[in-house]
Amino acid sequence: MARSLKLVCASLRRQRFHTSGSHSKGRTAAEHLWLTRHLRDPFVKAAKVESYRCRSAFKLLEVNDRHQILRPGLRVLDCGAAPGAWSQVAVRRVNAAGADPSAPVGFVLGVDLLHIFPLEGATFLSPADVTDPRTIQRVRELLPGGRADVILSDMAPNATGIRSLDHDRLISLCSSLLDVAPDVLHPGGTFLCKTWAGSQSLGLQKRLAEQFQNTRTVKPRASRKESSEVYLLATQYQRAKGPVED
Ligand SMILES: C[S@@+](CC[C@H](N)C(=O)[O-])C[C@H]1O[C@@H](n2cnc3c(N)ncnc32)[C@H](O)[C@@H]1O
Repeated sequence: MARSLKLVCASLRRQRFHTSGSHSKGRTAAEHLWLTRHLRDPFVKAAKVESYRCRSAFKLLEVNDRHQILRPGLRVLDCGAAPGAWSQVAVRRVNAAGADPSAPVGFVLGVDLLHIFPLEGATFLSPADVTDPRTIQRVRELLPGGRADVILSDMAPNATGIRSLDHDRLISLCSSLLDVAPDVLHPGGTFLCKTWAGSQSLGLQKRLAEQFQNTRTVKPRASRKESSEVYLLATQYQRAKGPVED
């Protein structure tokens, strides 16, 4: 436990949180607060009990319970997949490991800048940058039929702590993924992406509304109330470029 606390603190320092003053054991007040909240968090506890790699699994589980975006046989592209909790959920829901012999077998491809430890039923492309055209080319080669039925993005840039800058950088990540949707997403497909609410949110929502039949914003319970994090869910993709295999 002591070692994992040290690791969490080191990572917080790396994320350059804008705080002053120091606390016991060399932690800043913000780090101390974050740790206390983290250790009391019911989703952190549940993730341990249910062997998910991190608490974010519960965000996707809730979105899926409400909107049924994952089902056996679907091909999923999971962007910003490390450490792999969303991929764990996706593997189970699309039957990518073939755990249910009576259901169609799906496919899960996870991509991240960071290394991702192997997971049965998932294929990982890491380290790889989703905004790099070479990554997208590789994604198309790895996806059966060259396309995904569902694109998930829980991507987040390293937070600077400057809200508007972090918002702009995350919107730009989502937009670059939407730019490649015509080459990667199957018609009728689904797009779910994490955003931090801000001045450019409406612009992204408008772009989604032009390309998908239905769009909505979702704030799962596991997404902290005080966070500006909001997920955009778009279904029934209407555009595709190039040949489409069924
Ligand atoms: C909040 S974490 C994702 C957690 C993941 N959904 C899970 O359940 O395990 C955000 C991830 O986005 C990744 N990321 C940020 N920018 C990226 C990019 N350009 N290409 C690929 N991954 C990126 C980060 O490396 C980080 O691992």
